[in-house]
Amino acid sequence: MGKKIILTGDRPTGRLHIGHYVGSLRRRVELQNSGEFDKIFIMIADAQALTDNADNPEKVRQNIIEVALDYLAAGLDPEKSTLFIQSQVSELTELDFFYQNLVTVQRLQRNPTVKQEIQLRGFSDNDEENENKAGTPVGFFCYPISQAADITAFKATTVPVGEDQKPMIEQTREIVRKFNSTYGEVLVEPEILLPDNASCLRLPGTDGKAKMSKSLGNCIYLSDSEEEVKAKVKGMYTDPNHLQVSDPGTVEGNTVFTYLDAFCKPEHFEKFASCWVGKKVSFEFHSLDEVKDQYRKGGLGDMMVKNFLTAVLQDTLEPMRARRKEYEKNIPYVYEVLRKGSEEARAAAAETLADVKRAMRINYFDEGVLDELIKEQTEKYNQ
Ligand code: TRP
Repeated sequence: MGKKIILTGDRPTGRLHIGHYVGSLRRRVELQNSGEFDKIFIMIADAQALTDNADNPEKVRQNIIEVALDYLAAGLDPEKSTLFIQSQVSELTELDFFYQNLVTVQRLQRNPTVKQEIQLRGFSDNDEENENKAGTPVGFFCYPISQAADITAFKATTVPVGEDQKPMIEQTREIVRKFNSTYGEVLVEPEILLPDNASCLRLPGTDGKAKMSKSLGNCIYLSDSEEEVKAKVKGMYTDPNHLQVSDPGTVEGNTVFTYLDAFCKPEHFEKFASCWVGKKVSFEFHSLDEVKDQYRKGGLGDMMVKNFLTAVLQDTLEPMRARRKEYEKNIPYVYEVLRKGSEEARAAAAETLADVKRAMRINYFDEGVLDELIKEQTEKYNQ
């Protein structure tokens, strides 16, 4: 059996939010602790973040530590997982350079995530006011290829990511097949690992918009304080037609319920058998289905459900907050973890790069190869 290897990562453009957590981070920690994997690489994708932040490297630089702190707070353990910084593994750019020849511009143009992200950033619209109207940076357009380099450099078999990354993994698999059929079986075709809970595939923002994103200001961050979480849940989007407590309500598309689907565990019902709505009242439900039924029938107020959600979120976030505080006191340690991890990642990527160059026969100066080349060319010119 081949080795089981994980590679995944995040762009350091801000602190991580609960969408990152249920989309991938929580799973990574479980996989790490399952002991089922031979290697786990977790990458802070600073170079990828620069593809659309070239004018703001300081933002990326400052967020490396934020993401690292969030990782450690969530339970990633440097003894079990290799945490590293993408830009410190220069082998990745070399792989990227060779893979660029295996992908067409037309194929990239069809990549749904690239398409959507170009639109989101306004790279292709000419609006006067648009700060991005100069167009799409080439590096940004090509980042799926760079992401294939990230994944294949570590011979990753498994990539736990959110649903938005599906087209990236598909693109990687195509590159692997193309490489292997052209140059020989060197690269490993990775599998995507999506969240098994549908509400975790893409957690909506607190405003009900499809995506949680910093620029929309609709995120709950892993490092938010208790008060911030409370205030954000209080202002959350629910069912706009559920005006009175007695009114029947809709659960589908109701963000509060989507979050409960993503976070609520059976033990929470015992733990939070009462809720605060100005005063302490009992919250006599034994399962999320019971809560939903009551909400649909009418007679369950938004405030009650929101208070329950707040309690559930606090229960998840409080241990992380506490761990983060500890690591914040020891920043040198965090950088030491990243430095060591980057070194280790570099050694692993260098091995793959050597395999790749050997397969492409561009390893001219490797032992034995040069002798053979000299012999071949000498014969050619001295017959
Ligand atoms: N594109 C990912 C994101 O936006 C980050 C990333 C870069 C990544 N390289 C990767 C994820 C390789 C998985 C595997 O969050």
